[in-house]
Amino acid sequence: MKALTYHGSKDVRVESVADPKIIDADDIILRVTATAICGSDLHIYRGKIPMMEHGDILGHEFMGIVEEVGPAVLRVKKGDRVVIPFTISCGQCFYCNLKLFAACETTNTGRGAIVNKKDTKAGAALFGYSHLYGGIPGGQAEFVRVPKANVGPLVIADSGLADAQVLFLSDILPTGYMAAVNAAIGKGSSVAIFGAGPVGLMAAASARLLGAERIFMVDHHQYRLDFAQQTYGVEPINFDKVDDPANVIIDRMAGRGVDSSIDAVGFEAKGSTLESALTAVKLEGSSGASVRQAIAATRRGGAVSLPGVYAGWVHGFLLGDVFEKGLSIKGGQTHAQNYMPQLLEHIAKGELHPEAIITHTLPLSEAARGYEIFEKKEEDCRKVVLTAG
Ligand SMILES: NC(=O)c1ccc[n+]([C@@H]2O[C@H](COP(=O)([O-])OP(=O)(O)OC[C@H]3O[C@@H](n4cnc5c(N)ncnc54)[C@H](O)[C@@H]3O)[C@@H](O)[C@H]2O)c1
Ligand SMILES: [Zn+2]
Ligand SMILES: [Zn+2]
Repeated sequence: MKALTYHGSKDVRVESVADPKIIDADDIILRVTATAICGSDLHIYRGKIPMMEHGDILGHEFMGIVEEVGPAVLRVKKGDRVVIPFTISCGQCFYCNLKLFAACETTNTGRGAIVNKKDTKAGAALFGYSHLYGGIPGGQAEFVRVPKANVGPLVIADSGLADAQVLFLSDILPTGYMAAVNAAIGKGSSVAIFGAGPVGLMAAASARLLGAERIFMVDHHQYRLDFAQQTYGVEPINFDKVDDPANVIIDRMAGRGVDSSIDAVGFEAKGSTLESALTAVKLEGSSGASVRQAIAATRRGGAVSLPGVYAGWVHGFLLGDVFEKGLSIKGGQTHAQNYMPQLLEHIAKGELHPEAIITHTLPLSEAARGYEIFEKKEEDCRKVVLTAG
């Protein structure tokens, strides 16, 4: 079969690889009909994720048709159309029972990314996301093996829904939604979202759904901000054009700040040359440019939500400000399985239109070009979907 494989920084290729096979009794083999490139894939593409190996198959946002089922698979059958969450979870361990599926203790044979891990177990294995997360082949491929098929796959029974409408249930829609939930957004809330990429946009859509009244959005790609303003009614702030986005937000919010902030940028945040340089030589784990802004823009007693991926240390993390302002902080990999069914209902009722963010639909054979367009923000790219072919 054909699959998108990793060979080093900015070097991904579609090439012929062995077809996947059923290994465990609760595996399925999926024929992929649609898959997407995630901002998380860009961290890998830029060579920033350790423990990647030559030939690893990428991709953790995908859906398709069940081709083959292992003998212990009860929840899906051959021919079903399913969306697969990016986290692989057993459904039975301590954390799965708490519905904290991304923390599943039994699926990841890698070490995960916690620095001060002590004797704790790694969180869930992820598709196509390095040997830190189990080295599981991803779904930017014609076929993929899906472990734990009694827990992850969500059947799309409604044939009236197109792949593009439901594909993002695999990751960015639940991620944006959990980010909004972690930000405690409710009717009348004010929120500042940092990053107008796919995750920031899904967070904006979710914030609207949950009743947010004012949504500020910070980025420096004007075309992404313009889209967010037109589609979700955000108040755009271009950080190339204003000195201090957090202060703009505070000024517009009665000198206090917003109820909550969502950092949909993560460890590669732009805006601090020093931290970006230190991160590149591994003296710093992450750039703190975005999370510092999020903390500063949030009013006392508010919440800071972190869907953006962070790694290791941020020396310039103002823990004292978090204390002084009485903020709560919550983040992490998304417990996708927990949100997928309810979000599918919102899509079916026409209350969420995640497909609106798609700008590029390419055949899998052009996946390498898709990465380049998305990474360089060419052609006003917001989101790339790859289809079979
Ligand atoms: N928690 C999860 O489970 C989960 C799931 C999916 C993605 N993610 C993470 O979410 C983050 C965003 O993903 P995406 O797909 O939207 O990626 P993306 O790279 O397309 O978007 C990031 C956006 O942030 C902007 N940005 C950079 N520095 C900024 C700053 N200082 N202030 C404000 N904006 C800034 C960029 O211009 C870009 O538009 C990534 O870190 C990704 O790994 C996490
Ligand atoms: Zn992702
Ligand atoms: Zn589990």
